[in-house]
Amino acid sequence: MNLYEWKENYSVDIKSIDADHQGIFKIINQLFNAMSHGKAKETLAEFLAQLVDYTKTHFKREEMYFLATNYPDTVEHKLQHEFFFEKIERFKKQFESGDQQITVELIKFLSDWLVNHILISDKKYMSHLKKFKVE
Ligand code: FEO
Repeated sequence: MNLYEWKENYSVDIKSIDADHQGIFKIINQLFNAMSHGKAKETLAEFLAQLVDYTKTHFKREEMYFLATNYPDTVEHKLQHEFFFEKIERFKKQFESGDQQITVELIKFLSDWLVNHILISDKKYMSHLKKFKVE
């Protein structure tokens, strides 16, 4: 069972970014499924590492588009990306030190982040990037 299903209204109407976001949903669902089936710590650690790698690539792509199009909210948006990594890094460390509660907190953080970042902050750049024909 997936925690999150991709819906059309999540789209920012930019192919490369929608593909990234769908990939992020997929990893979060894999992480959630691994947690709910009591998978080994190593498996969860692997999904966390995947999530960090994947989002790093995704954030770089968005930030490259911002730079290329002189997006006015770049600084604020990049701060949100940095906040995400700081939080995930903290979760990783807590998890590695044996705190199993971390998984529930992590899913809550990721849920809030999906809603507040992808569905609100990312939507804000949609019309700006579309003006520059970013795909
Ligand atoms: Fe799609 Fe700003 O992350």
